[in-house]
Amino acid sequence: MKVLLIGSGGREHALAWALSSSALLDRLWCAPGNAGIAELADCVPLDIADHAAIAGFCADEGIDLVVIGPEAPLAAGLVDDLTARGIAAFGPTRDAARLESSKAFAKDFCVRHGIPTAGHRQFSDAAKARAYIAERGAPIVVKADGLAAGKGVVVAETVEEACSAVDALLSGGLGEAGASVVIEEFLVGEEASYFALCDGETALALASAQDHKRAYDGDVGPNTGGMGAFSPAPPMTDAMMARVHEEIIRPTVAGMRAEGTPFVGVLYAGLMITASGPKLIEFNVRFGDPEAQVLVMRLRDDLLLLLQAAVDGALATMSVRWRAEAALTVVLAAHGYPGPYETGSVIRNVDEAAAMQDVEVFHAGTRRENGELVAAGGRVLGVTALGRDVREAQARAYAAIDVIDWPGGYWRRDIGWRAVKSEAG
Ligand code: AMP
Ligand code: GLY
Repeated sequence: MKVLLIGSGGREHALAWALSSSALLDRLWCAPGNAGIAELADCVPLDIADHAAIAGFCADEGIDLVVIGPEAPLAAGLVDDLTARGIAAFGPTRDAARLESSKAFAKDFCVRHGIPTAGHRQFSDAAKARAYIAERGAPIVVKADGLAAGKGVVVAETVEEACSAVDALLSGGLGEAGASVVIEEFLVGEEASYFALCDGETALALASAQDHKRAYDGDVGPNTGGMGAFSPAPPMTDAMMARVHEEIIRPTVAGMRAEGTPFVGVLYAGLMITASGPKLIEFNVRFGDPEAQVLVMRLRDDLLLLLQAAVDGALATMSVRWRAEAALTVVLAAHGYPGPYETGSVIRNVDEAAAMQDVEVFHAGTRRENGELVAAGGRVLGVTALGRDVREAQARAYAAIDVIDWPGGYWRRDIGWRAVKSEAG
């Protein structure tokens, strides 16, 4: 098969790595890609917002399947525009992607289909939102309705903090994404993520993971796209996986189908495991970044075969096997990320780190300049390792990081700490 992968992050390097070992693959392209992906695929400088240009490339090269990594092109209807031209694409349509692109849609959908989630109300009027917050009290959660790359959520400890979040969002701080806000009940419990592959009718359980969204050790500091992740997630026992599948995933796939917007792609449920059971925090409609990096390390089966089966509506006959080992990834980010950061600093010894046993280094924001690897983004590398448990995977990942020479970067020292603690206990 000829495959075009869309995206340029660590998630896409991980997907390229898994796709390139497929028995079905003849040739892999990636638009636009990064320096790591360039070692596995032909990178093409297409503008991924230009759907006609992507379709034209697919027609010229005879692409059999387009695999879309990030949420923005899904929300922009790339799958709709490709399939309208007869090009097969893995991922949800624009309407199905509303599970992620509109928090209000996702919340209302959960109410319509009895899917357990935090209680909520939606507002576009700041005074009414403030009155509701005052009535409910804190802690309380304020979210921008639209896609905001992790920047649209405020978990407020006080009523004042929640009200200023409402004012900041509704006064246009995030543009269109903040034209309305969702105010949610604060959930208490342990967070975990669950991934399922969907073909519109059947959901095939993939695996669980946990990520660390805060920038600094101890899970403090600003929210980021994710500074590290590991799989499996300790709260996601086999029994909890089955419960999430029955109570959240299956009704979602059935509900989307019943509403005329069948969901094809990866359904990523961000969960809070509360005292009264699993509750949905949010849906994403794609692999996580950096969760994809840990999932591909544990996947034993052919990823391309699975994605093609999802597109063909053939998941009912498929199964998927995982390594028993844990995987853990640590993100190396440019100083300043998630705020303003500099690009262009030189990174050395990445190949030496990647050559270590059970270690892969997935590139996120990198490029080659005069033969040297340089930083080209906020999140730059994802150093990923397998181990018998999270503790061993963590030790291997940090040993590999010690080999890398990059004064321009910083990273957390404690990825997986809660899981390591529970393994020790
Ligand atoms: P989201 O972008 O929706 O994943 O939210 C970012 C983070 O905010 C989540 O990973 C949680 O840690 C936290 N969060 C979001 N919604 C809630 C909620 N209803 N209760 C408690 N924490 C939440
Ligand atoms: N790591 C969180 C995400 O991909 O949304």
